[in-house]
Amino acid sequence: MKVLLIGATGNVGLRLVAALLTHGHNVVAYVRSAQKLQSLLPASVYRQLSVVEGNAYDSHAIKNAIIHNDCEAVVNSAGVAAMAPWGKSDLPQIFAAVLEGVKQAGAERKKPLRVWFLGGLGVLSFPGSNSILSDHVPIFLAHRKNMALLKTLPPNTVDWSMICPSTMTPESSDFSVPTKSSHARLTASAGTPPLWQDSWMKHIPLIGKSLVAAMNASRYDTTLEQNADFIAHDLETRDSQYIGARVGIIDASR
Ligand SMILES: NC(=O)c1ccc[n+]([C@@H]2O[C@H](COP(=O)([O-])OP(=O)(O)OC[C@H]3O[C@@H](n4cnc5c(N)ncnc54)[C@H](OP(=O)(O)O)[C@@H]3O)[C@@H](O)[C@H]2O)c1
Repeated sequence: MKVLLIGATGNVGLRLVAALLTHGHNVVAYVRSAQKLQSLLPASVYRQLSVVEGNAYDSHAIKNAIIHNDCEAVVNSAGVAAMAPWGKSDLPQIFAAVLEGVKQAGAERKKPLRVWFLGGLGVLSFPGSNSILSDHVPIFLAHRKNMALLKTLPPNTVDWSMICPSTMTPESSDFSVPTKSSHARLTASAGTPPLWQDSWMKHIPLIGKSLVAAMNASRYDTTLEQNADFIAHDLETRDSQYIGARVGIIDASR
């Protein structure tokens, strides 16, 4: 697919460049500075990209980048959620602008775009309950705002998915293509964290679910490369099982 990658200079973004190319996609990198992107990538990789300079706040420029470059899919890794509930983050503003640009491009084409967003573990459902994990461990709350916005979309306007990782660590800073991840492909499920470990402790009044969520959290640590590979692999088909889903992922080999 031809993919517009917004935020290609970031931790996830640089791995996405390498993973998307490795999976045979054409990549249009949408970045604030082409010079910065060039300085971060091997010349042999940078040469394989089309690069558009622009701000992720600018929905009109994003729509134009999609239309003028004939992109069939978008991955947004721009903007970062603050950890503390009182922390400032421009992610919701970026998210809303990207979503608007993607929606308008789909409307112009009369065909919804395929899009992957980055979320966090906290927007997944607490298994067996009506709550989500960040109801019990209230961190990285920007992702909740973004999910709330996705829920307001009219049907058939954007074919979105949101990957919901816990902490992601780098395997290496080698962004050459093809990628060489030493880790297993991730196991995924829609809506809830896969392979959740339940505990009687969830029944402890007030704090039970928070304890169980906190106990589980580090089991969902993955690498940046694994998440990038997961998205790039999913985009090999247009009919993904994850369209319209929050996607929980785990490295089941750990
Ligand atoms: N890292 C983790 O462990 C982790 C875990 C769970 C979820 N996440 C989520 O994953 C996403 C990506 O995280 P990350 O670690 O890759 O973040 P990062 O390294 O800080 O990268 C952020 C990217 O956003 C770009 N950006 C910021 N504002 C922009 C704007 N106005 N216009 C265009 N580009 C803009 C930055 O570009 P410049 O180079 O121009 O600044 C950079 O490429 C975030 O939403 C984060 O909350 C991360």
